[in-house]
Amino acid sequence: MTVTVYVPNDSGALSLGAGRIAAAIEKEAQQRGLDIKLVRNGSRGMFWLEPLVEVETSEGRIGYGPVQLKDIPGLFDADFLNGGKHTLEVGTIDEIPYFKKQQRLTFARIGLTDPVSLDDYLAHEGYRGLKNALAMSGADIVKQVTDSGLRGRGGAAFPTGIKWNTVLNTPSEQKYIICNADEGDSGTFSDRMVMEDDPFVLIEGMTIAGIAVGATQGYIYLRVEYPHAHRALNTAIEKAYQAGYLGDNIQGSGKKFDLEVRLGAGAYVCGEETSLMESLEGKRGLVRFKPPLPAISGLFGQPTVVNNVISLASVPIILDKGGEYYRDFGMGRSRGTLPIQLAGNIKYPGLVELAFGLTLRELLYEYGGGSASGRPIKAVQVGGPLGAYLPESQFDTPLDYEAFAAIWAVVGHGGIVVFDDTVDMAEMARYSMEFCAIESCGKCTPCRIGSTRGEEVIKDIIAGRDLHKNIPLLRDLCDTLLNGSLCALGGMTPYPVLSALNHFPEDFGITEQASAA
Ligand SMILES: Cc1cc2nc3c(=O)[nH]c(=O)nc-3n(C[C@H](O)[C@H](O)[C@H](O)COP(=O)(O)O)c2cc1C
Ligand code: SF4
Repeated sequence: MTVTVYVPNDSGALSLGAGRIAAAIEKEAQQRGLDIKLVRNGSRGMFWLEPLVEVETSEGRIGYGPVQLKDIPGLFDADFLNGGKHTLEVGTIDEIPYFKKQQRLTFARIGLTDPVSLDDYLAHEGYRGLKNALAMSGADIVKQVTDSGLRGRGGAAFPTGIKWNTVLNTPSEQKYIICNADEGDSGTFSDRMVMEDDPFVLIEGMTIAGIAVGATQGYIYLRVEYPHAHRALNTAIEKAYQAGYLGDNIQGSGKKFDLEVRLGAGAYVCGEETSLMESLEGKRGLVRFKPPLPAISGLFGQPTVVNNVISLASVPIILDKGGEYYRDFGMGRSRGTLPIQLAGNIKYPGLVELAFGLTLRELLYEYGGGSASGRPIKAVQVGGPLGAYLPESQFDTPLDYEAFAAIWAVVGHGGIVVFDDTVDMAEMARYSMEFCAIESCGKCTPCRIGSTRGEEVIKDIIAGRDLHKNIPLLRDLCDTLLNGSLCALGGMTPYPVLSALNHFPEDFGITEQASAA
């Protein structure tokens, strides 16, 4: 009997040797005369177990990980092809608490299927959303997305339905759908996983968006540092064309949608939507003034939907199961689920998709298992390099856009980077200013000049020079950046800087005596 063995082709697993493991398993099986079918699936997102090898058994898929080359003969000796006992065995994947407790809607297929197999996609509820959408009017599709409560997962949390409605109601011969796949935030990888591990879901989401608003051309703006995603997307796009899921007459509906991938050259600011469009048009990635909004005048001056990968990849399930279904997950005005990314100094790093509402503490300890170093967690940065640093006293904040705004923090793209008590928060604040200076597009003065001056002031503070003068100066400068910057790169750099200063004053040399003076 042929046994199906799964070895991930996700770049996280590949970086840990999954490619060599797959080849070695095939070779060993051949030498032992055993019949296996090797499937290169995506990653389950439990990175401490990668490379995670799975075997299909009558009890479900049994996992073994992290597997190294030297373990392979032993795995065969232990009859792992029949779920045999081995020190690397982690049981049935679906029963691992980290995985079992998740609410995977957007990531439902990830790790389960062969990402570039259209048959596998169709066998796992793929293209059901598009099928429904093809039978609906544009306005009805937009209504489902509005009803779902989906808000942009790229950072700004703007309601997706409202954005789509603006494009739908702006008349034009040509409209565009852009997928923002620049994923520049530190500690984030959910976009990458979707594109590598379930590219059809993004293609389906973009096709639905195009049909909804009347756009016939889509672009995925992908960061050049994602070569595996590039390959997976191009393979899946080609298959979608061949099977009539893209092109002039989608599934015989007479509706048209074309899609291609464009590579960005690698600048953080090119993830900002207007800068991204400049780059797509072949120009330098400079931020544009708003208004006009991209939804009215975007790419080449035409109405354009710009959405993050996760926003678009969440659309198929909304159109399949209905807006109400998606809306039932979450809390307050944060509806649905968020693929949270645990990174940095954390014992169990990975991808956890859950409904909004659980606390940071639950995430860090129940899922993440505390710090990897075993030392106390001192701070976490949520929402990328422009996100605030949160101290332990704020770990009971629920993951919710409004709850985070209330403590002057952001959920952003759902990346959480963990630091233990050896971190120097003044140094982190200095780094935030340096990051802004390096990545600034240079269009506006507060960010272009302010970030460099800001780094200088923080260096002076770190050196203990004139704290009574330099701390107010830093606050003043942050005020100018916050209120005077054209985009959120300059406008949000004060979040990490001031949160570090306010929550960890001792790292800046501010003692009670110094602040009293
Ligand atoms: C400096 C900067 C970088 C950004 N980088 C990204 C990015 O990498 N990916 C992304 O989806 N959004 C990014 N954004 C947000 C986009 O401007 C935009 O809000 C988003 O693509 C809209 O999609 P959404 O509504 O689906 O979130 C960035 C914004 C700024 C100011
Ligand atoms: S804030 Fe910075 S990145 Fe944004 S427009 Fe101004 S100079 Fe450019």
